Amino acid sequence: MMRLSCTLLLLGLSSPSWAGVTVQQAGLVVPAAYASRRDDAQKIFVTSYNAYKEFTFGHDDLSPVSEGFSDGRNGWGASIVDAMPTMFIMGLEDIFEEAVNFSSTIDFSKSQTLFETTIRYIGGLLSSYELSGEKYPVLVAKAKEVADKMAFGWVGSNEMPYGFMDFSTNTPTIDTSNIAKAGTLSLEWFTLSKYTGNTTYADLTAKSVKHIANLASPLPGLAAQGIDPTSGNAVGSYVTWGGGSDSYFEYLIKYARLTNTDDPIYLDTWKARSLRGTAVDSSIKTLLRNSTVGNHLYFADFDGSSIRHVGSHLACFHAGNWLLGGKLLGNQTIINIALELNEGCWNTYASTATGIGPEAFAFISSDGNYTGGNRISASQLQFYNQHRFYITSSAYIMRPEVLESNFHAWRVTGDTKYLDRAAGAIDSFNKFLPTTIAFTALNDVDSINGGFIDDMESFWFAEVLKYLYLTFDDPVHISLDNYVFNTECQPFKAPSALDSYNGKLVPAEPFTVQSGSLPEISPNPFLPMPLKKIINPE
Ligand SMILES: *[C@@H]1O[C@H](CO)[C@@H](O)[C@H](O)[C@H]1NC(C)=O
Ligand SMILES: *[C@@H]1O[C@H](CO)[C@@H](O)[C@H](O)[C@H]1NC(C)=O
Ligand SMILES: *[C@@H]1O[C@H](CO)[C@@H](O)[C@H](O)[C@H]1NC(C)=O
Ligand SMILES: *[C@@H]1O[C@H](CO)[C@@H](O)[C@H](O)[C@H]1NC(C)=O
Ligand SMILES: *[C@@H]1O[C@H](CO)[C@@H](O)[C@H](O)[C@H]1NC(C)=O
Repeated sequence: MMRLSCTLLLLGLSSPSWAGVTVQQAGLVVPAAYASRRDDAQKIFVTSYNAYKEFTFGHDDLSPVSEGFSDGRNGWGASIVDAMPTMFIMGLEDIFEEAVNFSSTIDFSKSQTLFETTIRYIGGLLSSYELSGEKYPVLVAKAKEVADKMAFGWVGSNEMPYGFMDFSTNTPTIDTSNIAKAGTLSLEWFTLSKYTGNTTYADLTAKSVKHIANLASPLPGLAAQGIDPTSGNAVGSYVTWGGGSDSYFEYLIKYARLTNTDDPIYLDTWKARSLRGTAVDSSIKTLLRNSTVGNHLYFADFDGSSIRHVGSHLACFHAGNWLLGGKLLGNQTIINIALELNEGCWNTYASTATGIGPEAFAFISSDGNYTGGNRISASQLQFYNQHRFYITSSAYIMRPEVLESNFHAWRVTGDTKYLDRAAGAIDSFNKFLPTTIAFTALNDVDSINGGFIDDMESFWFAEVLKYLYLTFDDPVHISLDNYVFNTECQPFKAPSALDSYNGKLVPAEPFTVQSGSLPEISPNPFLPMPLKKIINPE
């Protein structure tokens, strides 16, 4: 009894610095010389969002060149919901409240798709709920509303959800899925369980992750990318840290940290203590490659029989993820590799005409240059000899991953070279991305006149500009010791860290779903309907 009440008291404390492993460099301060850079990031955000508001409010993305819109993310106003936590973090209270108001009116009964619905909508809603001090319960209610529809994606006793849903009828539509879709739901759905008291959300998504972790895999700990939701079987044997697989690996370590679960499967699969082999060990043993020029480190892909010497902007989150995991496990080898990978990724920015990195690239290592695609051209070879990688897809579609890892490197090491890099990215964005009304994507990062792509993705608001802002913000604000970011850069409050994530997993304090402790619902300021009605439709 005593222990329990102590525990509850401790859970209420906001700073867990009294115990546990830490991720961030202690006492970190952003030098005054960089102070204006945070405002620069905010200015880009405000310009971009004002244009979105003026031209396409309520649609998913602004098309910053044609001044039109696109609705590729269900047409529920993805930019608004995805941008909402960034608004709060930047202190933009008016547009935050406007976004809360908008969110409370979204009609979830149309459109389809699972993966992006969770990370952008459920992530945006729940993170905003937490960040704003649980002031707007309607955000939980709306997250629950859409999750209750998505829950139909787990058909019968299937452990894997379907990749697509028809939301008007709550009917899953058959397709093959991938481990990123099915394995990138757990942080958000756990958090939903925490605030609704309904453990089904956490259970459904944990079941899917465990299913993937238990499948026979092409490399130990590294699951194949494809999966058939009807049978739960792997499809093909392609292994990558890039798109289609990426955030499944990302969430293994993050779920262990967010929940402090004593179920070892998440940490075991990522790295700790596994007899079967782990994602980290397999990556080091099989995927890690040196460039023949300049000795840069990369993770190659593996297609089931051959190594493919390719990398991508998407995969570049790996450095940040390994920094987090390396710190949690207290393993300097992992941290060192992460910092090297981060150098390779940053080099893709440092080497182009715009100072912005490409969508995909390739390299040559002592075991060859096989990419599974076209042969290397003379101009690519020339670029490679100069820059230690060559471009295979030249676009920049406003992705965050390189700056995400750069942010982690700054918070973990305190080396100001990472601040200089982030500042350089801001300068490049200000120079090469502006249209008449906002900022947009580029056709060719290695040309200063390569032309625009007419789309401003919601992750520009959610990720790029939040990571940049936080890089220059006071490091105790949204500290990596108090928050776990979902794959869309939406922060979730983490419990105090354990003393160790490496070894016997004994939670320092019990952390269970807070069933029955859903915050008291005061009459919702925006919705005439009381929250209870939505939570318990019967
Ligand atoms: C949000 O909605 C409430 C209730 O309708 C209204 O009072 C408030 O002014 C709105 N806030 C914004 C910023 O639109
Ligand atoms: C919990 O959520 C699931 C999924 O939407 C739902 O089927 C179930 O009825 C809920 N349980 C309770 C007790 O509300
Ligand atoms: C750190 O991780 C590496 C790579 O998995 C492993 O070889 C090494 O033994 C670990 N070091 C410690 C101290 O656990
Ligand atoms: C890369 O090259 C360096 C120096 O030659 C060497 O120490 C390191 O082990 C190599 N790493 C890999 C993954 O081959
Ligand atoms: C790429 O590999 C092929 C086959 O191994 C080889 O013939 C070719 O010379 C290599 N090209 C470069 C640029 O290394």
